[in-house]
Amino acid sequence: MISIALLSRPGLMDPMKALLARELPGVTVASWPDAAARDAELAVCWKPEAGVLASMPRLRLIHSIAAGVDNILSDPTVPDVPICRIVDPDISSAMTEFVLWGVLYFHRDFDRVIGDGRDGIWRRYEQRAAKERKVGILGLGALGTAAATRLVELGFAVSAWSRSPKVVAGVRTFSGDAALDDFLGETEILVSLLPLTPSTVGLLDAARLSRLPKGAALILCSRGEHLVMDDMVALTRSGHLRGAVIDVFEQEPLPADHPLWREPGVLVTPHMAAIASWEVIAQQVAENAKRLLRNEPLLNVVDRLRGY
Ligand code: NDP
Ligand code: OXD
Repeated sequence: MISIALLSRPGLMDPMKALLARELPGVTVASWPDAAARDAELAVCWKPEAGVLASMPRLRLIHSIAAGVDNILSDPTVPDVPICRIVDPDISSAMTEFVLWGVLYFHRDFDRVIGDGRDGIWRRYEQRAAKERKVGILGLGALGTAAATRLVELGFAVSAWSRSPKVVAGVRTFSGDAALDDFLGETEILVSLLPLTPSTVGLLDAARLSRLPKGAALILCSRGEHLVMDDMVALTRSGHLRGAVIDVFEQEPLPADHPLWREPGVLVTPHMAAIASWEVIAQQVAENAKRLLRNEPLLNVVDRLRGY
């Protein structure tokens, strides 16, 4: 049977030991930095310490416990073995719920009436039909496609931007860097569901956010590093942006004294948009472990060159 190492901050993956033992009877599971972890063939990771993967001589497969693999590829010494990630319909559904909530928060003026309510102000805002609201999604992969499809079903005017051309029923699609400005120019509620790669880091800076029409809102569900936070705050204060829901941050947890918690127009959520269950993670890791042992094609393998 295969040997597995759990690479994360201490304690995070404790539930995985029993779950992997159930899925893979006879498996050996060790947590880094136990000496046994160094000899593992499969590494299950969340933000592994740089250099650790390269120090594992028997390593054959790296598995992220997340949909994103930036937590692994940020280490330039990652050995040249396959890297797999988690893709699951329940994660797509959870992300879709979060995106729908965020879109409705702005579309139905909850961002405004919650503030008004605190001041005892009874104020009704002009209502617009969903079909008149332009929602733009950055990233049309597993999560972006699910969210876009549901928004279309609810009647929103949905567009999306991806690296390669895509066809999704009811969605106006844009692809490639050259199309980004046009896409942003017609987006009133921008949802980021991109992976973090060298091409997408810092994508949402002052220049790009300024392409959005005045009064646009941002929902950041991807990674904190996609957004230049100070640029977003400046554009919110100037009134160019109506506000933002930010779920992901360069530093997580966001420190309690971080000014963003108290920034008017900005709502902070604790990286909660879509959280994979330990059961699902263990099942997908176990399935790939079995495939590895049988020399069968692995599931959800990442393209290292693209970085996602
Ligand atoms: P996928 O890999 O399935 O999809 C990525 C999409 O982004 C693809 O459509 C891809 O284009 C597009 N893309 C990538 N690079 C570029 C680029 N340079 N220019 C334009 N488009 C680009 O990822 P998922 O949908 O599974 O997940 C997306 C991200 O969501 C994760 O990487 C993670 O960061 C985040 N996430 C956040 C969670 C949370 O709780 N906040 C939970 C889960 C994930 P193409 O289709 O052409 O390849
Ligand atoms: C993920 C995440 O990438 O939780 O799965 O952000």
